[in-house]
Amino acid sequence: MVIVEINNASASAKIALQGAHIFHYSRKGEKPLLWLSEISDFEVGKAIRGGIPVCWPSFGMNNPNLPQHGFARTALFEHTSTKELDANTTEVILILKHSEATLTLWPYKFELELKVTVSDKLTMELTTKNIDDKTFKITQALHTYFPVSHISDAKVKGLDKKPFLDALTNEQLTQSGDVVFEEEVDRVYQEVNSEILLTDKDRTIHINNEGSSSVVIWNPWIEKGKRMSAMRDEAYKDFVCIESANAFDDFRLVEPGKTHTLKATIY
Ligand code: BG6
Repeated sequence: MVIVEINNASASAKIALQGAHIFHYSRKGEKPLLWLSEISDFEVGKAIRGGIPVCWPSFGMNNPNLPQHGFARTALFEHTSTKELDANTTEVILILKHSEATLTLWPYKFELELKVTVSDKLTMELTTKNIDDKTFKITQALHTYFPVSHISDAKVKGLDKKPFLDALTNEQLTQSGDVVFEEEVDRVYQEVNSEILLTDKDRTIHINNEGSSSVVIWNPWIEKGKRMSAMRDEAYKDFVCIESANAFDDFRLVEPGKTHTLKATIY
């Protein structure tokens, strides 16, 4: 698998061209900010388990005609530029364009760009451009796997009183207090427009999203964890996914010639 490796004065990162998949980011002298399964395959055609899969042009099974989480996470992006903006900041651009294969799956001409800025923060700007003559609908996510000291220490703050869809029961509920993990969690929070924090014993991770009002919180817990591909049975204890999304009702319509950008900044 071809990867882009970045090392500057403030941080390091690794991005696979398959899926524009960031699978490592850490600030100098700090622990990695992304969780990566030790037994992930790194096999062509299979999504890497961990890091930040790009789910596009459909989140989950939001478009039942497409594979789960769309096709971008296993598609080969083109690495179009790397710029050293200063000693602490590197910008990488990766692009995916429609092809015969994507047009068969999804009949629209598009250009999808992921701009990754690696500094003391990790910033991702996922821009969808419609170069077709018909409007299309997208749902999507930057499906970030964050490592935690232990799942029972993890708390997600910033979602108190937010409505959410519990994807396990299909119920529409309202959050009360912090999100904690004592069982399988698979939820789509709505109307999210401020910073989210993930805390555990050792640190606080900040997540800021733009161009999005939905956030998916996911941990497979014990039973689903055992069924997941490329993941040890016990791995559910080690991570929480906080996904910067446009999912379900937060879909976006992109008109011909127009763009939509989903931006996430984490540190
Ligand atoms: C999450 C979904 O976004 O991704 C979960 O909400 C799903 O339901 C998880 O299990 C992982 O999906 P996949 O396709 O990478 O195994």
